[in-house]
Amino acid sequence: MKSAIYPGSFDPITYGHIDIITRSAKIFDNLTVAVLNNRAKHSLFSVDERVNMIKDAVKDIHNISVVSYEGLLVNYAREVGANVIIRGLRAVTDFEYELQMSQTNAKLSDGDIETIFLNTDLRYAYLSSSTVREVASFGGDISKFVTKEVAELVYNKYKK
Ligand code: PNS
Repeated sequence: MKSAIYPGSFDPITYGHIDIITRSAKIFDNLTVAVLNNRAKHSLFSVDERVNMIKDAVKDIHNISVVSYEGLLVNYAREVGANVIIRGLRAVTDFEYELQMSQTNAKLSDGDIETIFLNTDLRYAYLSSSTVREVASFGGDISKFVTKEVAELVYNKYKK
């Protein structure tokens, strides 16, 4: 069984994330989508809200579990038996941070856990959760960035 973990903040999940999840689920037997519960960082959605949004967005893919984690990713990856971390790369600007993170994770896991990068589909190369939040905060149209259900939840946050 080949198991991978796809970690992130997913605040909120975008079509770019869904594309990476869909493609990863075809490569691996099991995919754990793991939402970081980062108490130090303010997020638009609570960790439970983010987990539920992702579950709903990928409900038709059956070899996926959606969970939250705290602390070091490599420790959590070991706990769920995943020896591959998936990350999406949008552009060269992502590369430096992602390279540093993958090398840190390789060191922390004594080389047991590999990071595999999937290049983001060109349709979503510009897209990020922070762009979605910013556009929505000004009342802009986010329907091309996130699912209908997620868009509604995002707008609701800014109505309050
Ligand atoms: O979607 P993001 O915010 O770019 O994801 C970053 C994430 C959550 C994958 C990363 O910050 C993470 O795993 N943090 C947990 C702490 C950790 O393991 N740090 C060591 C690697 S630098």
